[in-house]
Amino acid sequence: MAKDFAEPLDPLRQRIQAMVDHVNWGRRGGFYMYNRPVQELLGGARVRVDGQEMLMFASYSYLGLIGHPRISAAAKAAVDKYGTGTHGVRTLAGSLPVHQELEETIAAFKGAEAALVFSSGYVTNLAVISALVRRGDYVITDKYNHASIVDGILLSGAKMLRFPHNDMEALERRLQQVPAGATKLVVADAVFSMDGDIFDLPKAVELCRRYDAWLMIDEAHSVGVLGATGRGIEEHFGLEDAIDIKMGTLSKTIPSVGGYVAAQRDVVDYLRHVARGYIFSAALPPAQAAAAAEAFRVILDEPWRVERLRANAQQFIQGLQARGFDTLHTETAVVPVICGADETAYRFSRAAFDRGLFVLPVVSPAVPQGLARLRATVTAAHEPDEIEWAMDQMVAAAKEVGVLA
Ligand SMILES: Cc1ncc(COP(=O)(O)O)c(C=O)c1O
Repeated sequence: MAKDFAEPLDPLRQRIQAMVDHVNWGRRGGFYMYNRPVQELLGGARVRVDGQEMLMFASYSYLGLIGHPRISAAAKAAVDKYGTGTHGVRTLAGSLPVHQELEETIAAFKGAEAALVFSSGYVTNLAVISALVRRGDYVITDKYNHASIVDGILLSGAKMLRFPHNDMEALERRLQQVPAGATKLVVADAVFSMDGDIFDLPKAVELCRRYDAWLMIDEAHSVGVLGATGRGIEEHFGLEDAIDIKMGTLSKTIPSVGGYVAAQRDVVDYLRHVARGYIFSAALPPAQAAAAAEAFRVILDEPWRVERLRANAQQFIQGLQARGFDTLHTETAVVPVICGADETAYRFSRAAFDRGLFVLPVVSPAVPQGLARLRATVTAAHEPDEIEWAMDQMVAAAKEVGVLA
C-alpha cells in the first residue's frame, strides 16, 4: 500500500520528504541540473539537450571513444555471434571467449599476470575490497576516495582508517597505528574524481613496502589519461610493478560498462572464487565485453588521442586559471571550478547551461562544505577553439552569479 504522507512523519518518511523538498526547490528555481535527458550525440563533444545544441563538459569519455567505428563494429559482431545476453553467472553458466579475451587484453594493457571483470566499477570495488579484507583487518584510505571504495570497506567489516587527502605523513601515522601482525590494505584513487589531482604513488609505494601493506589503486579516471600511452598511474610514475591490486572501470575512457581488477594470477584466482560480486552476479553482455577489449587496442593504436587529451587539459586548466578561476590542484581532465556555497554552484551551472555548456555542479556532502564547484571534464573530442569559447562562456556565467567579480 502506498504511504500516506499526511500522517505524522516517521524518521524514514522525514528523510524522504527532506530530499524531495530539496529536489523540488531546485526544480522550481530552475537549478536542478541532474539526470538530464540527452537527446542526441552530434559528434565530437557536441550533444543535443532540450532541442538545443550544447558543448559537453560532463563526460567521462576522456579519449572521445564513444561511437568509434572499430569499437561499435566489435560490439555488433559480438551480438551477431552470441546474442545480447549471457546464461547467468560465469562460475556456473560458463564464460564466453569474449570474456576471456577481455581479461587477457586488460592484463596485458595493465602489465599484470591476470585480470577479472565485473558488471560495474562500483561492484568491482565492493566485491574486491570485501573479498580481500575482513573483520580484524585494516584498510587505510584517502579521505577523498570514491564512494564505492568507502562502501567496499564498510561491507568488508575491516577497520577503516582515513587519512587527509594525499597527505603522506598522515598515511605513515595511520600505518604505524595498526597493531603488529594485522593485515593492512592501502586504497586510493589514482586521479581523484572530484579534484583531478594525482595520488602520490611513489611515496605511498615506499610506505607500503616499509610497513608491509597491500596497495590497491582505483584507475577510473587515470586509464587513457595518465602515462605516455595512457596505461595509467604506474606508467605516469614509471612504477610498473608497484601496485598489488589495479582496479578500473570500463565505463569512462573505455566506452562500455563494467569494472576490472588486474593483479598476480593467484590473487585473481582467489577473487574469482571469493568475490561475491563476481560469483553471484551475471556475466558482462558479449557486446560490452567485445567493445571494451577493442577499446584497449584502439588506445594503443591511436596514441594521438592521449596526447590530444593532455594538450586539451593543459589549455583548459591554464585558461581557466588565467581568467581568475580557482581550479585547486588538478593536473588532469577532471577540472574543478570552485564556487564556494552549494547554491552558488547550482546558479553557476544554470547560467553556464543557458550559454550552451553542459557542465554540472557538485555540492556537499560529495565535496567539503564551502568547496562546491562546477566539475568540468575536458576530453580528446574537444576542439581547441571550442575550449576557448567554453571558457569565455564560463566567465560570463561566473560574473552573472558572482563567482568572478
Ligand atoms: C573513482 C571511481 N571509482 C569507481 C567508480 C565506479 O565506476 P562505474 O561507474 O563503472 O560503476 C567511479 C565512477 O564514477 C569512480 O569515479
